[in-house]
Parts: sequence; structure tokens; C-alpha cells
Amino acid sequence: MSLRMQNAKKPWPTKKVMEQIYDVNLWGSNDSEFYSGFGSHNPDLVEPYIKVLKTFLSSFNEPLTICDLGCGDFNIGKQLVKFSKQFIAIDIVPSLIAFNTKTFKAYNLKFACLDIAKDALPKADCVIIRQVLQHLSNAEVQKVVAKLADYKYVILTEHLPNGSFTPNIDIISGQGIRLKKQSGLDILQAPFNFKPKGIQELLSYNLKNNKGVIVTWLFEVF
Ligand SMILES: C[S@@+](CC[C@H](N)C(=O)[O-])C[C@H]1O[C@@H](n2cnc3c(N)ncnc32)[C@H](O)[C@@H]1O
Repeated sequence: MSLRMQNAKKPWPTKKVMEQIYDVNLWGSNDSEFYSGFGSHNPDLVEPYIKVLKTFLSSFNEPLTICDLGCGDFNIGKQLVKFSKQFIAIDIVPSLIAFNTKTFKAYNLKFACLDIAKDALPKADCVIIRQVLQHLSNAEVQKVVAKLADYKYVILTEHLPNGSFTPNIDIISGQGIRLKKQSGLDILQAPFNFKPKGIQELLSYNLKNNKGVIVTWLFEVF
């Protein structure tokens, strides 16, 4: 039984849960100290994502300032820093942020250890939030969504079931996602009702064996 299950009545704080995931490699492992999972490393997922973000970020005369919410092991973020004016990468796990700070260096890069649901977030033009909200309870997603209104652009990636599904069935924050409940996050739907000015689907990748689809949207917020 996982530590998380031992106290079924009161869920563990999200910070402890995420720390445990990295401590015992619940998202798998490679030869690095921290591993954020298949979704952060599989070239079929990562390469098209970097390509489409590079195109978007390079389309501005003045590069954007970016906040990467839930930056994880930074295999993704490290490839985007050079297309930004300033890049602030945030995660809830202190040891991961300490490791990233030591490992990844650039004049325009900063790391911060914050809980994106509870803490005030840095200002930026654009938020990247990739395969993070899918792990959080609706109460936490709601708190994050309320903060997205402060950013001009939000680039959101979520893992969804194939075909039709009931959006936003609640989960306890953790390693898993809504897929086993044949659900996935749609922040445009209740109870979140996010209302951006513009919506564009940038990317969609069907995983093998009916394991769902990874979708990336660009929201122009105001
Ligand atoms: C599956 S990983 C994705 C990492 C990265 N975005 C990527 O696509 O490679 C999810 C990350 O979100 C972080 N996270 C989860 N809840 C968070 C919270 N409330 N505040 C900040 N980071 C959080 C986790 O610690 C983890 O590193």
C-alpha cells in the first residue's frame, strides 16, 4: 500500500505526494536523479511539441516572458528557454528545483519552488502548463485557472481519453489522471468555465493501444 493510501480520509498535501512520486520513481526513471515520465521524454511527443512552440514563440518581434508551471525534470523547458526573453520555471518539489537550478543555466532562466494552486505566481506574457493540471483535484485546478487570467497567452497540454468523455470528474491529486474514470480536463467547461478570447488547438497525438490523446491548446486570454 502506498503511503498516500494509508490515510485515505485525509489526502496527503500535494507537495508530499509529488515528492513521493519522484522519490520512488512512480513516473518511471532514467539515469537522471529526477524523471517526470514518458510524456516528458518520448520523442514522438516531445519533438512536435517543441517544434510548434518554437514556431509560436519565434513569431514575436520582442520575445515573450514565460512562466513554466510544473516544470518537472525540465527536459521540455530546457529546449524553450532560448526562445524567451525571460523564463521562470516553477515546481512544487524543493529537491527537484534545487537540482534544476544546479543543472540548467542560462542568463534568462530562473527556477522557483512554488505551489501553483496556493502561491502567488510571477508575472509573464505567457504560461506553459504541460501535463500538470491533469494530476490535480478540481479544487486545485480551479485555483490555478483563476490565475491564468493574468497572462496574455496560455499553452495548456492535457492527456484525454479517446472519443467522447465526461469532462472534469474530480480526482485526488496524485500520480494518476482522470483517464481511468473515462474523463479528462476541459477548463472551458464547468466547473472551471475559463473564457479566453481565442482558442487554437496546436497539437494532438494519439497514444497507441487506446491509451488516450495528448492535446495542446493555445489560449489567447485577452
Ligand atoms: C507529469 S510532470 C510534467 C512536467 C513537465 N511539465 C513536462 O511536461 O515535462 C508534472 C509536474 O507538475 C508538478 N506539480 C504538480 N502539482 C504542482 C503544484 N501544485 N505546483 C507546482 N508544481 C506542481 C509536479 O511536481 C511535476 O513535476
